[in-house]
Amino acid sequence: MLPDSQLKDIQGFVASGYDYAAKATYFFLQFKDQKKSKEWLEKIIPKITTTERWPVDENGHLMPPKVVLHIGFTHAGLAAFGLPDSALYSAPREFIDGMANRKHILGDTGASDPENWEVGGPNNEPVHAMMLLNATEDTFADAYKAHQKLFKESKGGVVVIREEKAFREDSGREPFGFSDGVGQPIVKGLVFTSKPVVSGNIVNTGEFVLGYLNEFGVYSPTMVVPIETDPKNILPGFPDPQNPGYRDFGRNGMFLVYRKLKQDVAAFWQALEANTFAPTEKGKKAEVLWLAAKLMGRWPSGAPLVLSPDHDDPSLARADDFLYERDDPEGFRCPIGSHVRRANPRDSLQNISWGDSIHTSNTRRILRRARLFGESLFPQSAFSDENDMRPVGLKDDGVSRGVHFFAINAETDRQFEFIQKIWINNAGFNNLYDNKDAYVGNNENGDGVMTIPQVPVRRQVSGLSRFVDVIGGGYFFMPGIAAMRYMVEC
Ligand code: HEM
Repeated sequence: MLPDSQLKDIQGFVASGYDYAAKATYFFLQFKDQKKSKEWLEKIIPKITTTERWPVDENGHLMPPKVVLHIGFTHAGLAAFGLPDSALYSAPREFIDGMANRKHILGDTGASDPENWEVGGPNNEPVHAMMLLNATEDTFADAYKAHQKLFKESKGGVVVIREEKAFREDSGREPFGFSDGVGQPIVKGLVFTSKPVVSGNIVNTGEFVLGYLNEFGVYSPTMVVPIETDPKNILPGFPDPQNPGYRDFGRNGMFLVYRKLKQDVAAFWQALEANTFAPTEKGKKAEVLWLAAKLMGRWPSGAPLVLSPDHDDPSLARADDFLYERDDPEGFRCPIGSHVRRANPRDSLQNISWGDSIHTSNTRRILRRARLFGESLFPQSAFSDENDMRPVGLKDDGVSRGVHFFAINAETDRQFEFIQKIWINNAGFNNLYDNKDAYVGNNENGDGVMTIPQVPVRRQVSGLSRFVDVIGGGYFFMPGIAAMRYMVEC
């Protein structure tokens, strides 16, 4: 594990999704006045949840925090704090651009064009920061009130331009009905595992947190400030002596990708139903479920198809230590174009060796966090209850629902943007030629196709449209605690 001094400096979101703190509000902020914003941030810093180890009670049980607070700043937000130009211009290109300006890389076209977004688009108020408040049911109201009071006390210095309410289903399922948040990298130095891992799933700290070695054995680009702007020596220097005149503003920080993703749940299940052959309702239900699992690569419980190809097996719901090329090279169990096999291909990237594939996949990993918006279209028990036929004949109810999707990484263009562009929205992914990701790909014209390898003849699911639309988003930097103290002082 990293030393305590560092764990206390890193925002905790990288180490935990705080699932038990299921209620959340995301505050989108603008800093109108530098001095007042600095005073406000000074009060916020001690409240930020870090990766510091959780205390243990007298019975040896961990005591996680009931109220969890994180904050990320946009490039404009850092500028509003008066950060020196050296820091602002040493920031990565995509962070300077902002998410909306990367729409061609991200495939945010048609209804997902930033022009139509609710937050973070060119027609919305500029966002300077996103503050994420998560809390347990019993503590949320008080924590929320306390933060409203702090905003008020800033006397117009810090203005909330939008709030997003968010929640988590007890089942951990997303609106299509699948268990979410299972496949995650184990971050060295932050997450401890005593079990042996065969899948190469343990990933260097520097893939997520700046200031540590990444999977290439080097440090990901950071943001620097001139040494004379830090007379109180708040920020660390560099591990190598190549930057004697500068301090490391980025150390212990990470980049946070936020996407508000609206899911057309009825259209998704209707499209699958249109691809079934079964003559009875019951047969249809089994077939749409099977097709959905093939498109996802996991069953609704979370059980991976590679380990349980024919039926859902809740005992494998959290299984994440598996490979594809070794156990299922043709994709007969888990199709090559399924969501999970393209979002993290593990050992199965074509035209390179097994080991190189694991290494390459691990240079593109993201840590995912999610909360939901909008009531579920059907109860989460629909898949386990044999008599519940809801996935068949499902009708839309007009409610806007989906996920607040977060990805944490050290280099957004190399990690999140790469997955989105080269793996999810690429019809030629891994020697396929006409398959985009059937769940989240930008199949704009309703002519999307998904191939399910089978013997003697493969199966094609066709007529797939875009079931997930982007309706908001932004790129944020989540600084370390010392970097925020520097922001107050600079
Ligand atoms: C509404 C949109 C989305 C939904 C409903 C969704 C749902 C899921 C589900 C159910 C899983 C399998 C369970 C798990 O491993 O957590 C999964 C895995 C994953 N998804 Fe998504 N996802 C969405 C968008 C995205 C996007 C935009 C990306 C990245 C650009 C992404 C990347 C991943 C990754 C990396 C995994 C884990 C793969 C692994 O390590 O095996 N997802 N997603």
